[in-house]
Amino acid sequence: KILILDFGSQVTQLIARRVREANVFCEVHPCDVTDDFIRDYAKDGSLKGVILSGSHMSAYEESTDKAPAAVFELGLPVLGICYGMQTMAQQLGGKVEPGQSREFGYAEVRAHGHTALLEGIQDATNAEGHGLLKVWMSHGDKVTQLPAGFKVMASTPACPIAGMADETRKFYAVQFHPEVTHTQQGAAILERFVLKICAAKADWIMGDYIAEAVEKIRAQVGKEEVILGLSGGVDSSVAAALIHRAIGDQLTCVFVDHGLLRLNEGQMVMDMFGRNFGMKIIHVDATDQFMGKLAGVSDPEAKRKIIGKEFVEVFQAESGKLTAAKWLAQGTIYPDVIESAGAKSKKATTIKSHHNVGGLPDTLHLKLLEPLRELFKDEVRKLGVALGLPPEMVYRHPFPGPGLGVRILGEVKKDYADLLRRADAIFIEELRNTIDPATNKNWYDLTSQAFAVFLPVKSVGVMGDGRTYEYVVALRAVQTQDFMTAHWAHLPHELLGKVSNRIINEVRGINRVVYDISGKPPATIEWE
Ligand code: XMP
Repeated sequence: KILILDFGSQVTQLIARRVREANVFCEVHPCDVTDDFIRDYAKDGSLKGVILSGSHMSAYEESTDKAPAAVFELGLPVLGICYGMQTMAQQLGGKVEPGQSREFGYAEVRAHGHTALLEGIQDATNAEGHGLLKVWMSHGDKVTQLPAGFKVMASTPACPIAGMADETRKFYAVQFHPEVTHTQQGAAILERFVLKICAAKADWIMGDYIAEAVEKIRAQVGKEEVILGLSGGVDSSVAAALIHRAIGDQLTCVFVDHGLLRLNEGQMVMDMFGRNFGMKIIHVDATDQFMGKLAGVSDPEAKRKIIGKEFVEVFQAESGKLTAAKWLAQGTIYPDVIESAGAKSKKATTIKSHHNVGGLPDTLHLKLLEPLRELFKDEVRKLGVALGLPPEMVYRHPFPGPGLGVRILGEVKKDYADLLRRADAIFIEELRNTIDPATNKNWYDLTSQAFAVFLPVKSVGVMGDGRTYEYVVALRAVQTQDFMTAHWAHLPHELLGKVSNRIINEVRGINRVVYDISGKPPATIEWE
């Protein structure tokens, strides 16, 4: 395995992801772990190398975080990235100084010497025959003096030491970010580091993972009973399928329908897990209870809180009836783990913490079973497919916990939800059915998230002989990598026209459809 020490960069997760894409197992830990932790971690010989991440600190706030000294005493390869390079330089006797100018974004880096890390990896060759790499840089400070034993491995005009290497000790460092996709050879560089230089085994493979995970779950829960809150979302669905594979009927799922799900979603969940998988599921239709609590409430945060609180109450009431249960299973995935660890250690800046409304309290007095804790979203999806979940479900766009509750602006009413569900289903159906000739993919797969929003305003229309005063639906479709920034999708006009026609003709109560052309930032993806 590979250890990644996190100095708080927003993109540390991507390092882990690239390493796992090379089929090598890795874990991220905060940079301030102790020397004892490091030595202990390496004790059984399975640790093959260490990567030091970048930091979110700007050039103005000087970061004083250091890697535990033990990292450099293990006799294992170490790769420093951005701030990780600077701290490596400083800790090993080199010098780091504030740069005259900061370098952000695209840069061309020239490779020097012949190092095991960069040899043969390049985007182009310059006039003198040196390899050129197109990379993404983001730094203010820079290394100005190499530590003893190091040579220059890469440079840019603004940053003469953009990479350094001590090949005897197998210490490598780069000022640019190989983990982001803008660095075209980044994945190749990280793969070279973990597979060749660290000689880590590429044995992180899904099929083996299932067998291993099943064994682990069996050993953990023994003959005891487990409950799981199934939402129909990817994470809880995959967790359910995996745990069911391990312990069958010892698992009971509780599916709380808050009345704010998409069209036929409740039925689909019951068919899939109940009928196809033969799981024990309790379907709680709590629509009236949720609608009752939401009546008269129009503030978005208040609505989110109510939905979250009711969810916990309904779930608790149901699980209270399952007196034999000793375990609560949750679909916590790796980014959730890093995010909450980051929030605690203040290492990574958390942006989306308010989004986790479904967190269940520890008052249930159950032991926690979280079999997806080590996996990234794309790994969870692959696991889901390997477990037999339909790809359409596993690759569905994300859907917020409060559901249509945040897509009906202002007060939530059942009638509004019914109209919105039908409009949304038409939009999604047309996206799935329309192929983009340039890519030969359908527009659902070409967008990251698409949905309809209900606007509780009435506008005038004319239908037949009379005037109508009916509601408005907005369509939203975005393309994004990480949901932190997003572009509105340039859907073909014919597709938009067809969706609009169908919604107005088929959903009585709506006489106007508009398309949202705002990017994030400054707009958010959801309307509330
Ligand atoms: P925004 O609207 O902040 O959304 O651009 C970014 C991503 O987060 C989802 N989202 C939520 N997910 N509970 C959730 O579970 C929420 O309250 C919530 N609000 C936004 C949104 O759908 C998008 O994927």
